[in-house]
Amino acid sequence: MFKAYLLEEANGKVSGRLTEVDESQLPQEGEVTVDVHYSTLNYKDGMILNGLGRLVRSYPQVPGVDYAGTVLESSHPDWKRGDPVVLTGWRVGEWHWGGYAAKARAKAGWLVPLPQGLSLKQAMAVGTAGFTAMLAVMALEKHGIKPGSGEILVTGASGGVGSVAVALLAQAGFHVAAVTGRPEQEAYLKDLGAELIVPRSELAEAPTRPLDKERWAGAIDNVGGTMMARVLTQMRYRSAVAAVGLAGGTQLQTTVLPFLLRGVSILGIDSVMSPKEERLEAWARIARDLPLAKLDAMTQTATLADLPRLGQAILKGELHGRTVIDLKA
Ligand SMILES: NC(=O)c1ccc[n+]([C@@H]2O[C@H](COP(=O)([O-])OP(=O)(O)OC[C@H]3O[C@@H](n4cnc5c(N)ncnc54)[C@H](OP(=O)(O)O)[C@@H]3O)[C@@H](O)[C@H]2O)c1
Repeated sequence: MFKAYLLEEANGKVSGRLTEVDESQLPQEGEVTVDVHYSTLNYKDGMILNGLGRLVRSYPQVPGVDYAGTVLESSHPDWKRGDPVVLTGWRVGEWHWGGYAAKARAKAGWLVPLPQGLSLKQAMAVGTAGFTAMLAVMALEKHGIKPGSGEILVTGASGGVGSVAVALLAQAGFHVAAVTGRPEQEAYLKDLGAELIVPRSELAEAPTRPLDKERWAGAIDNVGGTMMARVLTQMRYRSAVAAVGLAGGTQLQTTVLPFLLRGVSILGIDSVMSPKEERLEAWARIARDLPLAKLDAMTQTATLADLPRLGQAILKGELHGRTVIDLKA
């Protein structure tokens, strides 16, 4: 028997509980059984824990979209017992058994090796949020945006994706402007490398004209909705917005003028089905470029028992940085 956090549905209402499950309950699908050391809490985990967004296909479900641990058993030549491995995405925790359990079973192709230089805990401090931040930075770079290009705006900056994005961009030499609704996070964001703090209220209202003064050479948007619409009006000529999140809404009401008159691009970022080559590139960049002292400073540790409280807190925007779930605690 081992511990697991299980979501169940009754009368259309989803509830979770900490329980013990049997090895025979592990899914048959997948060639690799993993001893899970750490998982994490992402915005999507908050949605899943609260039964939102129709993300889970069927209940009961072990949630947790990320995990890191060591291989217990493998029938696939890519992995052997004892290998340290990391998993993010692939609809794990949504359609497949997730990381909020002391053991998991995965398809061999879903796993990547623990990047050199990171501990299992640090890999989960990065987790889907940090991995996605790296994908967004890579997308801006591939668009041709360089540290000398001008200021890069990060919205939802004190959240998980935002915090890692600020740290990665600053480390790479970009000038970072961080949007936050929490003035008390200003010192935290400056420590991560933000040079300018933009109060959320400055970008909270819908645009009144299609184009505003050109300000940002690039943007990583974790908020969507009205804020993204507003940001689009302020983008500089030939700049790009990496569209990552929906913390402020899924609707996007804009005109086509930023695209037609300023050549602005929206770069869609999807971490879930990111192909293996891109995954390996992103993890190698994270291990090389993310300052570990900053990663440690943005990370808090919790246990499975904390999930009900934390799952609500992340949806309310009350957490900052990253939250690691310790399965060995
Ligand atoms: N595309 C992908 O593959 C991918 C991967 C991971 C995450 N995501 C998405 O990216 C977003 C961020 O994820 P996360 O894990 O970093 O979540 P998070 O830790 O909760 O961060 C979100 C941040 O957005 C800001 N925010 C929250 N509600 C807001 C609102 N109503 N209006 C404006 N700002 C608001 C807050 O920052 P401040 O307090 O600093 O303003 C909050 O900390 C989520 O929407 C998530 O679903 C997408």
